[in-house]
Amino acid sequence: IELQRLNTMAVQSSASYFYRLQEANDVAEVAALAQQMQLSVKTLGEGSNLVLSESIDALVLKNEIKGIDIISEDNASVRVRVGAGENWHDFVSWCVEHGYYGLENLALIPGTVGAAPVQNIGAYGVEAGDTIVEVTAYDLVAQQTQKISQPECQFGYRESLFKQQENKYIITSVCFQLSKEFNPVISYGALSALADSNKLSAKAVFDFIVKTRQEKLPDPTVLPNAGSFFKNPVVPQETFEQLSVQWPNLVSFKTDQGVKLAAGWLIDQAGLKGCVGDEGVGCYEKQALVLINPNKASGKAVLSWAELVQAKVQQLFSVELEIEPRCW
Ligand code: EPU
Repeated sequence: IELQRLNTMAVQSSASYFYRLQEANDVAEVAALAQQMQLSVKTLGEGSNLVLSESIDALVLKNEIKGIDIISEDNASVRVRVGAGENWHDFVSWCVEHGYYGLENLALIPGTVGAAPVQNIGAYGVEAGDTIVEVTAYDLVAQQTQKISQPECQFGYRESLFKQQENKYIITSVCFQLSKEFNPVISYGALSALADSNKLSAKAVFDFIVKTRQEKLPDPTVLPNAGSFFKNPVVPQETFEQLSVQWPNLVSFKTDQGVKLAAGWLIDQAGLKGCVGDEGVGCYEKQALVLINPNKASGKAVLSWAELVQAKVQQLFSVELEIEPRCW
């Protein structure tokens, strides 16, 4: 089956086997069949964080498990179990409409609910892992469904157990704990403009983020891309200090692990913002960290532009950029 329409980079790719997984109850049977056929299993959501090679010798499972269920609630909070195939943004909208707070900063992130814990999606000062209490997943090695608690998920910056153990788990649902009281997180960059508002609502934060993302990030249905293509590199304090001597305007954020540098700024300084290579793959003109693929070139072309970006940044700053999307 052809996967070009199923990945937001719009790369041409074909999978040897493909199945639309709509029922969590079917997962064991499908996994057993794949094992019999000696096929590896790869789970696809909306393909918004992927770079595909030309042919994929595996069973690609498109996760379409739906459902949003409240499993418990009290005066302060609610626990909601969500099918892995639900659209992320639709779920965030649903939360804001129902007065369940904590995810409003993560509006308009492309992809599915089941992909959220893999990358531990994050934006504007919030990470999905902060509100996830448990992930239900089929373990392909143990051959059984497991409930994986938040500490076991090992969430970090764009990191998790599921990202580390690629192809081991098929996530079927995610359980979130959300607050009934709205506690705005508006410390990140442009969001601080909202601090003046005397009665700030979650809807206002949600709307602001939708607008900001629409202004800055290309719509994948119009201009193929996979969001930020590299992680923001975290460097030791002393490396940061050395770099700031030469680059006093270096954009950075302090974290517990070291200093996080804005990869977009590094790429921008390397002169690559708005630049494109032979096959049209390039760095988006408004946000250099986003690689775009207007001509729907191959995954190979995408990765070769990425290598060029990595080499230039390495040359100029001696900083290594790590690719953020999954490469199949
Ligand atoms: N910058 C430049 N030039 C550029 C791009 C950025 O100078 O071309 C500088 C700006 O000064 C800006 C700073 O870099 O202040 C940071 O840029 P931005 O606020 O756009 O955030 P980011 O660090 O590039 C991260 C996430 C995004 C997320 C935003 C907002 C990663 C890899 N990316 O981007 O996530 O939306 O913060 O929180 O951490 C994604 O993962 O796909 C994604 C879009």
